[in-house]
Amino acid sequence: MPILAETDEMPDKTGGPDPYGISFRRLRSSDLGLMHRWLNAPHVRRWWYAEGTSYAEIEEHYLPAIEGRDSAKPFVILHENKPIGYVQSYRISSQDDEGYARLVDVKDSAGVDLFIGEASYLYQGLGRHVIRNFLSEHVFSDPEIETCVIGPEPKNTAAIRAYEKAGFRFFKTIHVPGEPEPEYLMTLTRREFDRDDLG
Ligand SMILES: CC(C)(COP(=O)(O)OP(=O)(O)OC[C@H]1O[C@@H](n2cnc3c(N)ncnc32)[C@H](O)[C@@H]1OP(=O)(O)O)[C@@H](O)C(=O)NCCC(=O)NCCS
Repeated sequence: MPILAETDEMPDKTGGPDPYGISFRRLRSSDLGLMHRWLNAPHVRRWWYAEGTSYAEIEEHYLPAIEGRDSAKPFVILHENKPIGYVQSYRISSQDDEGYARLVDVKDSAGVDLFIGEASYLYQGLGRHVIRNFLSEHVFSDPEIETCVIGPEPKNTAAIRAYEKAGFRFFKTIHVPGEPEPEYLMTLTRREFDRDDLG
């Protein structure tokens, strides 16, 4: 059984998907059809569009990470072994992206991005458990990472709320050259993560 993030809080079992059912596995090239469907779903496309929506664009964008030629680590979010979404993490470092690292300006940090692709799993409180489990298993498991950074659009109030419920707090707004919308950067340090009981 996957381990829930360290919290005393019991998961909400009042009808929504059971948070204990969450797990992760690496994205595979055989998942790209699924990614194509998810990235064309209106609730994802509204907020996640940079890589395009044709199958060829999606393949071109995600294959390097699948094949380990990109610093991003891509994962499928599973719920009771059913793929329901996507999450990725990456080191924020000047070697990988100097301009972004300078804008964020948080040392020993990793970025995380995610979406729930299956619409029937949205808005039932699963997001914060997905994030907390992912941070526990794949971000703060790296002893070099001290801070996790997440950057929704300022208008994405549902995502901001979900990230707050996972323990993130507003840090600053940045404007990344070439991106049409600003990023509302939120951070969560290892120390905050370890002590946060989400109460
Ligand atoms: C962002 C996301 C991961 C959050 O996970 P989630 O499990 O859906 O989040 P929650 O159920 O905790 O809901 C978060 C907030 O959304 C809002 N919300 C609830 N129902 C909603 C609806 N039908 N439409 C829009 N927002 C809604 C509420 O403010 C809720 O917070 P509350 O429950 O404290 O009131 C998920 O919604 C998602 O993947 N969305 C689409 C893609 C996306 O925006 N990705 C993030 C890019 S940065």
